[in-house]
Amino acid sequence: MSDFGRALLPLWHLDPEGTFLNHGSFGACPRGVLAAQSAVREEMERQPDQFFRLKAMPTSEENALRPTADRLGRFVGTSGERIAFVANATEAINTVLKAVDLTSGDEILMLDCVYNAVRLAVEDTCRRTGAHPKVVTLPIPIATNDAVERIMQAVGPRTRLAIIDHIASPTAVVFPVAEMTTALKAKGVRVLIDGAHALGQLALDLEAVGADWYTANAHKWLYAPKGCAFLYAAAHVAQRTLPLSVSHYHDLGFPHAFDYVGTRDVSAFLSVPAALDFMAGFDVDAIRRYINELAREGSLLMRDVGGEPVAPEAMSCAMRAYALPQRRCAEPADAAALRHDLWYQHRIQIASSAFQGKLLCRLSAQIYNERSDFERVVDVLQRRGWAGR
Ligand SMILES: Cc1ncc(COP(=O)(O)O)c(C=O)c1O
Repeated sequence: MSDFGRALLPLWHLDPEGTFLNHGSFGACPRGVLAAQSAVREEMERQPDQFFRLKAMPTSEENALRPTADRLGRFVGTSGERIAFVANATEAINTVLKAVDLTSGDEILMLDCVYNAVRLAVEDTCRRTGAHPKVVTLPIPIATNDAVERIMQAVGPRTRLAIIDHIASPTAVVFPVAEMTTALKAKGVRVLIDGAHALGQLALDLEAVGADWYTANAHKWLYAPKGCAFLYAAAHVAQRTLPLSVSHYHDLGFPHAFDYVGTRDVSAFLSVPAALDFMAGFDVDAIRRYINELAREGSLLMRDVGGEPVAPEAMSCAMRAYALPQRRCAEPADAAALRHDLWYQHRIQIASSAFQGKLLCRLSAQIYNERSDFERVVDVLQRRGWAGR
């Protein structure tokens, strides 16, 4: 019998009446990790002066953020010196956009499956600098090698920065980021990898990826509390990578300046060891095997409703998106209706979007899920259908 499955649900606060197949959007933090965070908060509130001056200030010898960064760094194939804590991938990406020198006519390249907030941040940067966003269309379903070729065709002499998703949000496609980074850097383009969904889910070796910057959320697949992410900066861009808020330690530069950017709750960052312990308690490899196998089983079940996988098997992970058969082009309202009806009428939480005119249903497999969860969503989709079918 598997150690995993619905019997683990009580380890989370997740509604026991619900079928949660959307770990991807916001993650879910186990009770045990939240208890570790509460202990940090209690310590912070018991003696705030001691806590902030000793634990949170970068110049203190007892600074607790740096050893945490060291441990996280080891987990992702780099050193703590390359890791700064930020609240989320959104903050990290805005930080990088500020770190790149851009002038009128420069280009920032991104994929059409870019996360919407990232696209808006790029557009805002472009408005301020006179740079242009360049969006690479990757038609779905994705063919294995197509993506690298299309990206490289889009690179021009003024492309200064490329933002590449490691696991794309609407399509859940896993891109070959090391290969892409090598090709882009050979053309003199700086590379930011948006690994919002990758930390915990994929085995990461950031030094091998070789990107200038890499960000990932710990609050999704690493099981950390909300508001916990990191920004990796390679040594040659570290000096220019500075927090969005200028505070006392700005002059210390990367990563120390990020450790204290004004009074804030750093308990989510300090709970990363508890999140890593939680994973290790189950065996990280066993978790990855289970969630990937479950997602693969889910993709076989989704065939019963004609769900076409967006990614080939080699570019798939524990979160997979399916194009549902449509009579017409899908609209964002169709995706919202699907999400809404599944939760409010059937207590099933999924993610969905309208992408390239297709209605995408995205399902995440987590260790608290089992085959019956996927059977349930397929059964409901079969019986009820969806807008535009
Ligand atoms: C690919 C990608 N990038 C960035 C983000 C932003 O993450 P956050 O809201 O934690 O900043 C998300 C969120 O789901 C995402 O999927």
